[in-house]
Amino acid sequence: MPSNPHQDIVVPDEIRGRDPVLVMMPMPSDTNANGDIFGGWLLAQMDLAAGTAAYLFTRGIPVKTRAISEIEFHKPVYVGDKVSIYSSVVKVGNTSVTIKIESWVLRRKQMIYEKVTEGVFTMVAVGPDGRPTPVQGR
Ligand SMILES: CC(C)(COP(=O)(O)OP(=O)(O)OC[C@H]1O[C@@H](n2cnc3c(N)ncnc32)[C@H](O)[C@@H]1OP(=O)(O)O)[C@@H](O)C(=O)NCCC(=O)NCCS
Repeated sequence: MPSNPHQDIVVPDEIRGRDPVLVMMPMPSDTNANGDIFGGWLLAQMDLAAGTAAYLFTRGIPVKTRAISEIEFHKPVYVGDKVSIYSSVVKVGNTSVTIKIESWVLRRKQMIYEKVTEGVFTMVAVGPDGRPTPVQGR
């Protein structure tokens, strides 16, 4: 066992040095009939991550999910995989901010990273009346 238990885990260039917006671990209750993780669970985590990224961008103005596009499920996720979700702002409009989301797993058994999902989420800032309001992000 190396003194640093993580030193032999290769982090891909795409995520090296980036902070995930969310990290979680799926449990047996999140599985589908095939025994791997239900796509709806993953989509919910991605939506949560997009909402969190947008909320950080707007500095606390509430946001709602307006549109989700370009969703891809590249590889299955298994119970016990460490799921890390990364976000990047790709477009800022008047009331909307568009966030690219990528989910990566650290496989529990092999200790390798793999990209498992991606998608594009359009989040709209809303005022107290629930209607769109300028994002005023920085
Ligand atoms: C979010 C909501 C308040 C927006 O109100 P709306 O009247 O539809 O908004 P608008 O048509 O004025 O569009 C608002 C912004 O979204 C963008 N937008 C609208 N439809 C879009 C689509 N299909 N794809 C991408 N962007 C879209 C517009 O371009 C606009 O952006 P901009 O101001 O930066 O140019 C409203 O649609 C809503 O409440 N939807 C339900 C949200 C929800 O329940 N989400 C799930 C839980 S969070």
